Amino acid sequence: MPCNCCEITDNAFSEAEARAELRNYRRRGPMNQTKLILEAIRSLNLKNVDLLDIGGGIGAMHHELLADVARAATHVDASSAYLKEAKTETARRGYSERVNFIHADFTDVAHQVQAAEIVTLDRVVCCYPDFRRLLTAAADHSQRALALTYPRETWYMRIALKIANFFQGLRRDPFRVFLHPVSEMNALLEKEGFERVSRRHLFVWEMALYRRAAM
Ligand SMILES: C[S@@+](CC[C@H](N)C(=O)[O-])C[C@H]1O[C@@H](n2cnc3c(N)ncnc32)[C@H](O)[C@@H]1O
Repeated sequence: MPCNCCEITDNAFSEAEARAELRNYRRRGPMNQTKLILEAIRSLNLKNVDLLDIGGGIGAMHHELLADVARAATHVDASSAYLKEAKTETARRGYSERVNFIHADFTDVAHQVQAAEIVTLDRVVCCYPDFRRLLTAAADHSQRALALTYPRETWYMRIALKIANFFQGLRRDPFRVFLHPVSEMNALLEKEGFERVSRRHLFVWEMALYRRAAM
């Protein structure tokens, strides 16, 4: 099922890009912002938990966490090209039995997806126009922790994304990148019952780790 709210198509996330990302992952391991999520999740000392990775791309999050934290993973992605590469790598690592792949806009299928202890969204909210809809659905599915990365709200990221979106327009590609307000994402997750326990950043990306607050 293609994404029907945003403009995620196999044009925006093409087979060539997905193959290149998988090649890079095999050569160099997870990207730096993914490493921030992995470190944050590992700091919780959870074992044998279920992972729900929304917009998992080539699947780096579960390739890594199935080794020591997760017993099983669900990977939901709107791009068939990325899912194809994720499945290939999952099989190569011998994890096929432990990963459930769903090709969809998560917000469309959320009601059919099981909750998990850990939910991750690595570089995903910035692809999606309606962060409230996406994060509310993600929060509903997290029993213990939720970690996400998103572009930093800095002057240079505002300019960079304006330029990127301008060229997308010139190419007549409807896909856009979004710089959602961090304070509003945080307020939404707090309202959903989470507290932010860690926040780190690189030059481009910021990572936030949330835990479900004690009742
Ligand atoms: C920039 S890529 C990041 C992939 C991976 N998380 C990573 O960091 O390498 C964004 C991914 O999120 C997916 N995506 C964005 N919004 C989505 C949604 N609402 N439901 C499912 N997948 C989504 C896209 O298809 C794409 O594969």
